[in-house]
Amino acid sequence: MHSAVEERIIRPARNILGSLRLPGDKSISHRYGMLAAFAEGTSRFTNFSTGEDCASTLACMEALGAKVNRLGGGAIEVTGVAGDVTPSSDPLDCGNSGSTMRMISGLLAPQEGTFTLIGDASLSRRPMERIRKPLAEMGAKLTLTEGHAPLTIEGAALKAIDYTTPVPSAQVKSSILLAGLQTTGTTTVREAIRTRDHSELALRAFGAEVKRSADWVSITGAQKLHAIEGAVPGDISSAAFFLCAAALFPGSSLVLESLGLNPTRATLLDVLTALGAHIAVLNLEEKNAELVGTVQVTAPPDGLRSTTISGGLAAQLIDELPVLAAIAPYTSGGIRIRDAKELRVKESDRIALVARNLRAMGAEVEEFEDGLDVPGGQTLHGATIDSGGDHRIAMAFSVAALRAEGQTLIQGAESAAVSFPEFFDLLDLVAER
Ligand code: S3P
Repeated sequence: MHSAVEERIIRPARNILGSLRLPGDKSISHRYGMLAAFAEGTSRFTNFSTGEDCASTLACMEALGAKVNRLGGGAIEVTGVAGDVTPSSDPLDCGNSGSTMRMISGLLAPQEGTFTLIGDASLSRRPMERIRKPLAEMGAKLTLTEGHAPLTIEGAALKAIDYTTPVPSAQVKSSILLAGLQTTGTTTVREAIRTRDHSELALRAFGAEVKRSADWVSITGAQKLHAIEGAVPGDISSAAFFLCAAALFPGSSLVLESLGLNPTRATLLDVLTALGAHIAVLNLEEKNAELVGTVQVTAPPDGLRSTTISGGLAAQLIDELPVLAAIAPYTSGGIRIRDAKELRVKESDRIALVARNLRAMGAEVEEFEDGLDVPGGQTLHGATIDSGGDHRIAMAFSVAALRAEGQTLIQGAESAAVSFPEFFDLLDLVAER
């Protein structure tokens, strides 16, 4: 997916100061892009994600017959296929994006035709049985390659199911809901821990009826979707790198405007508060049922404290755990992470890579099958960081590097563009040296 392997030098910072407006949320952009491409009519969005992952979703949907007009500056127009995709003779390339592959599988399973989905080396290692199983229960014909991509779907009429997800996964839930949208009867997904609910909110925004309670969501098909317009809220998982960076420097002040604050995504704000950072939320409003607001963070004058992240918290913070672990040595009491085994099957084995890179910077860290113990009160030195081609590892260690002694070299820095191409430029903008 990435054009060239790039290295970046990160120098220590003295402070983090400024105000930023971040590009659109990756999870919401995937859903808006996919649903708009499937709906009837032309949808218009501003602040659409600039990341490569969402570009993969749009490219797949174009290959299936949707029209995408990229207007620049994050503005796009998408004209949908009104519920009937055109099978593409070429494989659909999902790049590095698990969301694209898992969600599009559910969308395509009830469609007519044969579809092949491929991804890059990292995506081709990630587990796909978790979508094959429920979709097969619905009657879908989905063939994997030893549990992974490439995967082939032979479209078939499906039947509604009542399914309990064995691991918390918004991608799996969404995949089933997208199949259920097109299937006669009521499809229900039950989850022990509520995962991000952007699909439920987006489906409603596009005109579908979705019912839900605390631990289940159901959709009765078949339903049609209609085009919408809207602004994508800033990506809170991208903001996490800046929020954590600002939390490290007494005297810091960082304002992030128009940030997505959906409660299923905003747990990081509670964790930072528990660590002692001061968080203020202003100008809260709702856009297409998504909560949006301005967040100001200031670091505690006497440093961050300590915390434990386990159980449901680990699932809700899954994308933010690498950066929390990377700043943990600078807290006074450390950070303990458990029940986060899913980190091992993300774009990389994020538990192993975080531990390895923390050690490269001279930190003490203990690795567990489902988490990490990172003691506090440590001094880190600059080092060479292996991002493993994983965007969140590259960005997490760029943040750790801001408080290290000496400079840090991030290998595979281009991977940041998977979710956040502007990351290094914005970091330079707010990091005082
Ligand atoms: C996502 C869900 C999460 C998350 C990923 C995006 C989504 O994955 O890690 O970055 O947009 O639904 P899982 O659903 O596999 O936990």
